Amino acid sequence: MMAVFGSAGRLIQFARSSVSLSVRRRSTAAAFAQTPDTQENRKPKTGILMLNMGGPEKLSDVHDFLRRLFLDTDLMKLPVQSKLGPLIAKRRTPKIQEQYSKIGGGSPIKHWTSMQGEGMVKLLDDMSPETAPHKFYIGFRYVQPLTEEAIEEMEKDGVERAVAFTQYPQYSCSTTGSSLNAIYRYYSNRGDRPKMRWSVIDRWPTHPLLVECFAEHVKNELLKFPEEKRDDVVILFSAHSLPMAVVNRGDPYPQEVGATVQRVMERLGHCNPYRLVWQSRVGPMQWLGPQTDDVIKGLCERGKKNILLVPIAFTSDHIETLHELDIEYGQVLGEECGVENIRRAESLNGNPLFMQALADLVNSHLKSNMPCSRQLTLRCPMCTNPTCGETKAFFANQPLS
Ligand code: FES
Repeated sequence: MMAVFGSAGRLIQFARSSVSLSVRRRSTAAAFAQTPDTQENRKPKTGILMLNMGGPEKLSDVHDFLRRLFLDTDLMKLPVQSKLGPLIAKRRTPKIQEQYSKIGGGSPIKHWTSMQGEGMVKLLDDMSPETAPHKFYIGFRYVQPLTEEAIEEMEKDGVERAVAFTQYPQYSCSTTGSSLNAIYRYYSNRGDRPKMRWSVIDRWPTHPLLVECFAEHVKNELLKFPEEKRDDVVILFSAHSLPMAVVNRGDPYPQEVGATVQRVMERLGHCNPYRLVWQSRVGPMQWLGPQTDDVIKGLCERGKKNILLVPIAFTSDHIETLHELDIEYGQVLGEECGVENIRRAESLNGNPLFMQALADLVNSHLKSNMPCSRQLTLRCPMCTNPTCGETKAFFANQPLS
């Protein structure tokens, strides 16, 4: 759905965060889930644990989501975190609830992950009959279904071979690293060895089908600009920023996001000028920049008033696309800056090609018989979190055969 803002000569076209669109997609997912071969019926041989941070499904979940997030010492270090974390969560809850209420009352991430998981396992059963049946599990870090609960379910189902599959294409110790540490802690707290044989898909920033999906979504959105403006469009690839303290300890995320952007632009034949920009900075610390909002302002001041925003580090819609990019930047800031056209490329969400990408990643991973990438075995050179080393050893030493 498209809303049109502004007056003559200043057209802000905007295409996202439509409640009706979201309702339509939810019904598609429901139809998908009602097929006879739902995954509840499966007795799985291979379990694929789809890891992500998750998001509150309803406004009453926001507080618990924030509480877990601010208590996560792998994500951030706060003084007296066990006390300060819950305090910050409580203080921020009303503001974040307001943001979720503007995007339909909750995060669509579980909806999209379920749809992607269903599509992925159906393809995998055909691609890899020797490891079938496959079943996907969702392991969120800060909301249900929590990673720990998903592991319990996998064990109860009698899964033989478990794949921890990060849904962040680019690796950061504060996202994928935190989820992997949670798996390691689950077993070390229990003082038990896993019954399942584990391995991990820890990054996939340049997978050809991922690149193809992003390029397709950029192309589709470029076509929606007025023809005479299309060549003038600046593509802004926007990724969640990181505090410079995380970047400077040697986190691989900025380089891996850059690699995705480079491949997508190559696939697009460098059709337009572009920049990689960073969003969602909070608090007084130094964060990786340039910030997406500053760049939109700067471009408009320099007469570049046709802008395409491309979320490049998340694959499904979430608050940072639906609220920050669509509402805060696309509507409010765009209008303030006198932008002519600002649009946002659709997230990968229910794209069938993206489900193929996920299935191909798991299939090649299973065939490789590798517990993890070589890159995962290296700690950040300035890492001070001992759990990181233990987690890496846990995955690297899994007996797979
Ligand atoms: Fe990167 Fe520990 S913070 S390995």
